[in-house]
Amino acid sequence: MKRNLLSHRVIWIPLIWILILQLSLVAKLYAQEPITVVKWPAEINAEMLLGKQLFFDKMLSAKQSMSCASCHRFDHGGSIPQAKAQQNDGSFSRYNPSSIFNLSNNYPLGWEGQISSVEKQISNLMFKENIMGLSWPKLVKRLKNQPHYVRQFTQLYPDGITQTNIAVAIAQYELALTTPSPFDAYLQGNQQAISKDAVLGYELFKRYGCVSCHQGKKVGGNLLQKIGVINPYNYNNAKNTLSDLGRYNSTGEEHDRQVFRVPSLRNVADSPPYFHDGSIETLEQAVTLMGRHQLGLEISTKNVRLIIAFLSSLSGTPHPELLP
Ligand code: HEC
Ligand code: HEC
Repeated sequence: MKRNLLSHRVIWIPLIWILILQLSLVAKLYAQEPITVVKWPAEINAEMLLGKQLFFDKMLSAKQSMSCASCHRFDHGGSIPQAKAQQNDGSFSRYNPSSIFNLSNNYPLGWEGQISSVEKQISNLMFKENIMGLSWPKLVKRLKNQPHYVRQFTQLYPDGITQTNIAVAIAQYELALTTPSPFDAYLQGNQQAISKDAVLGYELFKRYGCVSCHQGKKVGGNLLQKIGVINPYNYNNAKNTLSDLGRYNSTGEEHDRQVFRVPSLRNVADSPPYFHDGSIETLEQAVTLMGRHQLGLEISTKNVRLIIAFLSSLSGTPHPELLP
């Protein structure tokens, strides 16, 4: 009987080796990507769920008129559709609210990179009474009058409702708000997860050098950079405000003028307006300005469109149990 060629071991062994080699090359390629994958938390615990209740509870503001979610909306990429947020005392925030998604304690927080952890951020917020109108002692007292909070806090913490425990519970919730996106599926090997335009846009994003500032898990968030590194970015001097000075406000150092934390680009398509002061309405404008001022490039309309296709593939949602 004539033997089928393909059943021959001599043919198969080299074929298998080629396959293994190819797979390991592919794995290496992905391991070197400047953007890394985010995942939902492996399990949702009681502390996160307590933090969730606090995050959406208007009792955290003096007039019971706003919660954390009022300025960090889940239907708007973790920010708001306005440039600045109105605070409890009627004044407006210095900055456009940063997204609440994909936070981590490994990087500085705040547009000036001035906040060292999520817990500190919550703590500062309650010390600045103008934002939500409550101080720590008032908030602790208010929550102690709520039997459901008393019960849940004592189940989790021996000392019950305290400033630290409130901050820790909210922080655990916030840190769990990761938003895996179609682009993460693509990074993990699913070629169909994003459109062809998005793939091309990602190539441009790397080739132009956007990744030198926007990289890592959050596609940003881990560096402080000047706006206008190549071509000066002139704010309207007449309207020049404290916010335009950026990190200078925190350090008083000349070289920190117009320096900001590079924002994360996850969910960016969902959260206009853009830039620290919310002065830029569309992604088209934001990408064009980035090319011009950060890289010295005039990016064509077609390539701006491709980059936006890539940026749009970075939108995802938090774990279902963490949703409002
Ligand atoms: C009135 C609007 C408003 C409310 C209410 C509000 N925030 Fe914010 N939040 C902001 C603004 C504006 C910023 C940007 C501040 C900055 O960069 O200095 C911000 C920034 C943050 C950041 C830093 C994010 C980053 O990546 O830098 C965190 C974390 C945060 N808020 C959590 C909370 C929590 C938790 C609450 C509720 C206890 C809350 N916020 C309530 C407006 C608000
Ligand atoms: C030298 C560092 C650097 C480079 C390179 C860079 N960026 Fe940025 N990017 C920043 C900084 C800093 C900001 C914040 C600017 C501000 O708020 O005034 C920013 C903001 C943005 C925003 C607005 C995000 C938001 O939430 O407001 C987008 C979109 C963006 N960059 C995309 C890009 C793209 C696309 C490229 C490549 C064409 C790029 N960036 C290159 C540093 C950089």
